[in-house]
Amino acid sequence: MVTDRQRQIAEAVAQHGSHRRAAEALGVGHSTVDKAMARIRKDDPAWAERSESRIDRGDFTAPAPPKHLGETPAERWARRRQRFQNAKAATDAREWMQFRLKRVEPCAVLWFGDPHLDDDGCDFDALEAAIRIGNLPGVYSVGIGDYTNNWVGRLARLYAHQEGTAATAWEDARYFIRDRGLQWLTLIKGNHDLWAGAGDPIDYIAEGTADVATWRARFTLAWSNGAELRIDAAHDFKGHSQYSASFGPKKEAYFDGRAQIYVCGHKHSASLDRFNHPFRGTKHEAFRVAGFKRMDQHALVNGFSDATHGEAMLTVIDPRTVYLDGAPKFRTFDCVEDGAAYLQSLQA
Ligand SMILES: [Fe+2]
Ligand SMILES: [Fe+2]
Repeated sequence: MVTDRQRQIAEAVAQHGSHRRAAEALGVGHSTVDKAMARIRKDDPAWAERSESRIDRGDFTAPAPPKHLGETPAERWARRRQRFQNAKAATDAREWMQFRLKRVEPCAVLWFGDPHLDDDGCDFDALEAAIRIGNLPGVYSVGIGDYTNNWVGRLARLYAHQEGTAATAWEDARYFIRDRGLQWLTLIKGNHDLWAGAGDPIDYIAEGTADVATWRARFTLAWSNGAELRIDAAHDFKGHSQYSASFGPKKEAYFDGRAQIYVCGHKHSASLDRFNHPFRGTKHEAFRVAGFKRMDQHALVNGFSDATHGEAMLTVIDPRTVYLDGAPKFRTFDCVEDGAAYLQSLQA
């Protein structure tokens, strides 16, 4: 620790340009200044270097104040090395996160498609119906993203054409995420959410409630009898077919194949595929949930129709039955009420 007295001496050295003149100005012996400066150099070399740095210009010395950046490249590299290690550890910890279910009992995962809560086209009838299913015992929820419109930049003009403001939108998001009794496994961020950049309110809203994933979450549900269901959920997967809204997730299933379930949202249309992998023989489901945004002018002028089903979907899982690949029995319903009825028949 550099003491106040030592700092005072160092400041005098900086001000007067030499140990001798600083000693004279302070009315102390030359050796007192020498010792104090040696001590500072040992205890806090970076500070000493900054406080002592002067340039000799012949008849006078000029101050050489530290750069505004405030740290040397070596200091910055050490700090950034630590920062990168922390960030990488956080990223690695999210790869195939394992949720361990405490009971080997039938349960279900409810996939919430894009809510766009502040959009005037948000279908609250369908949303409330899905939330009712999410409140049933043994049902866990995943958000596929685009919780609010979060218009930014050039798109911010669109706030003029909707009732919800940025402030009420964050309130709505908080109400949906925290106050509706949903048991979230994870909340994925979509493109609208990611426009918030660093400091996204969704991160603060979800804190202590669910882990938040950027665009994609790969995770597993695991039971004590060895059953494990692998899930690859993203806001969207690359690949498009005008004939099949599930082309993107299905393509990912063909190329990747590590998960049993590939699920996404984003395009506001629904499709559900159940198939055996052509090379692996394993059972997979690839689907897109439509989300809750209706009367979408963007969709209208681009020739996409409003989805009439599959706003959310429900995957019912019975871990008491385990397949050869270790996956439990599972089946996704594009009608959440039908899924809930099946879940309840298994729970009875
Ligand atoms: Fe969306
Ligand atoms: Fe989206």
